[in-house]
Amino acid sequence: VRRTPLIAGNWKMNLDHLQAIAFVQKLAWGLADAKHDVASVEVAVFPPFTDLRSVQTLVAADKLPIAFGAQDLSEHDSGAYTGEISGAFLSALDCSYVLIGHSERRTLHGESDEQVSGKVRAALRHNLVPIICVGETSDDLEKHGPSAVPVAQLKAALSGITSTVDIVVAYEPVWAIGSGQAATPEQAEQVAAALRAVLVDTLGEDVAQKTRILYGGSVKSSNIAGFMREPNVDGALVGGASLDLNEFTSIVRYQK
Ligand code: G3H
Repeated sequence: VRRTPLIAGNWKMNLDHLQAIAFVQKLAWGLADAKHDVASVEVAVFPPFTDLRSVQTLVAADKLPIAFGAQDLSEHDSGAYTGEISGAFLSALDCSYVLIGHSERRTLHGESDEQVSGKVRAALRHNLVPIICVGETSDDLEKHGPSAVPVAQLKAALSGITSTVDIVVAYEPVWAIGSGQAATPEQAEQVAAALRAVLVDTLGEDVAQKTRILYGGSVKSSNIAGFMREPNVDGALVGGASLDLNEFTSIVRYQK
């Protein structure tokens, strides 16, 4: 099975809607200059909620080869949940993807495995592809080894889901996020392979082989190729470097 690589840029809480328009327009020009072929690598950006309408309008008007999604969603569809965003709203804005369970949500906002699983089901209800983020802290790594925590998080996120589903998994070791200290390609591959085994067990061989597993954590243009050479790594979730046009375009243009 050939899995189309996905390079996803998580902007986190950066760029307002005006900056987003300028950035996405320049990114599109950069990709065009590089003769970017969407069939070979898919590019997606994850702006703050307040930027999504502007990004949607620009992408649709100019038919840009850039997918987009949100950084989070509510596990509920509507109602008295002040400050929350429904998957229905994201769908109406043509979001393709939504990040779920990013380590910053888990640690800074106390998001539990149960909430992550509720959010995965909410995304699927609204035809959004959830990008399920998992990863261990350096403490977890010392205590439990490399795969135990990400594997447990993925199993919990998929609880109750048995059918054929379109999902993406992102392995982000917490110690590698924003630290400049990326995992090695071998470390990423070891955990990605363990995560694919979970997919085989829970969703079956077919879905497991079609599902993309991304690596995230200090990905840069200088280390992307090493990750992409690994058989179970199908792309990257990029934070800091996704806000640098040259860096991000170079990451998209990695050579396998
Ligand atoms: O979602 C992206 C990750 O948290 C990685 O961030 O590339 O700045 O390390 P980083």
